[in-house]
Amino acid sequence: AEGCASKRFRPGGQTFCSVPQSLSTRRQLYERDFPVYKQPVEVGCFSLDSERNFFSDSRQLRYYSDPGKSPKLNLRDGHHDRFIKRDESVKERLDHLLRWILENRVKLHSRNAATSPPCTLGVDFVTWRGHLTKLLTTPYETQEGWLLAVSRFGGTLYISEMETEAARVNRENRTERHEEMMYWGYKFEQYVCADDVHSVPDGCGVVNTNEAFCTVVQTRLADHKLLFSGEVDCRDKDPKSPPAPACYVELKTSAEICTPKQRSNFHRYKLLKWWAQSFLPGVPRIVAGFRDHDGVVVSVETFHISKISQLIKNEYNCWKPTVCMNFCSDFLSFVKSVVKEDDPRLVYLFAWEPHRDVTFSVHKDSEYTFLPDWYIKEMAS
Ligand code: A3P
Ligand code: MG
Ligand code: MG
Repeated sequence: AEGCASKRFRPGGQTFCSVPQSLSTRRQLYERDFPVYKQPVEVGCFSLDSERNFFSDSRQLRYYSDPGKSPKLNLRDGHHDRFIKRDESVKERLDHLLRWILENRVKLHSRNAATSPPCTLGVDFVTWRGHLTKLLTTPYETQEGWLLAVSRFGGTLYISEMETEAARVNRENRTERHEEMMYWGYKFEQYVCADDVHSVPDGCGVVNTNEAFCTVVQTRLADHKLLFSGEVDCRDKDPKSPPAPACYVELKTSAEICTPKQRSNFHRYKLLKWWAQSFLPGVPRIVAGFRDHDGVVVSVETFHISKISQLIKNEYNCWKPTVCMNFCSDFLSFVKSVVKEDDPRLVYLFAWEPHRDVTFSVHKDSEYTFLPDWYIKEMAS
């Protein structure tokens, strides 16, 4: 019975060890002291090239180049003639991160688990930063649910998102306007990023969303040791800038703010997502391009992550960082209590819809299995 979250007495004299079957997402339950969140440490990085090939280096890392305060950048340029879009129907799951882990397992093992068996990593969770961002924003999300598949292997819990039916339908039925606006974010990146420290951005080039630079960081949330990876848009080009992840810069675009109502919505909804995404890997600042309805960037502003909680404090009934972090921590505890069996072919599927509790179901050798054979085989050897 030890280690179980709760015990229940059943008639017949047997004591059953039972784990909770659901987790509430009600905000009030998570309004307590901010949990311990250790400064994230970059333990490595990798790059994906224009064909989505993996490289164990920083070849895709770009350098931020300040465009000035009101640069008039046309984000529509190139959408029809210089755009190569990643195929979003290809599900990569955790594969790139797993490949990085295999190539760095000796380093990870000696860093975290030198005294335990060689197939252990010494972390509790492996996942993408984006999955954790979704967890952080869950207590405030009213539109989109999620599905997170979890398997325990070698003592580590791997979390991989599965696309919901609703998300697939939305993805397959995006309007032309929506598709174009998604391009704008990448076009902004091209206008303010240079390939090398000494070069300048090339707004005439091709935008290819297969290309990515990803940082791999390690940290701890309460008693959960985390290893996760996230895409990084660019870095500060000053050679005197602090080491990663403190030199990284997140880029964003957003509609220009003209009314108090628009400012309030920006604080309440957009800044929550922006804060969660960058706070997790320890990226200290966001450079935002504010654009008009025709996709022209009319102003550029920097947001420091550490100042966002101050910025939103005057907003009535606004989101709170502590609720985000405590919910995430409690969800990870819930996962630990549920996923006890160490078997990469067993998937616990955690499901959440807005206004509901988080629930789970168990699947053996199903369509949800996500740890690939090449990873299991190599880790076992
Ligand atoms: P914006 O950030 O300017 O909206 P990221 O900001 O995370 O680096 O992502 C770069 C761009 O990818 C975004 O630009 C947006 O256009 C697109 N993007 C990011 N997440 C997305 C999602 N979940 N669905 C669709 N497009 C997304
Ligand atoms: Mg990005
Ligand atoms: Mg970005």
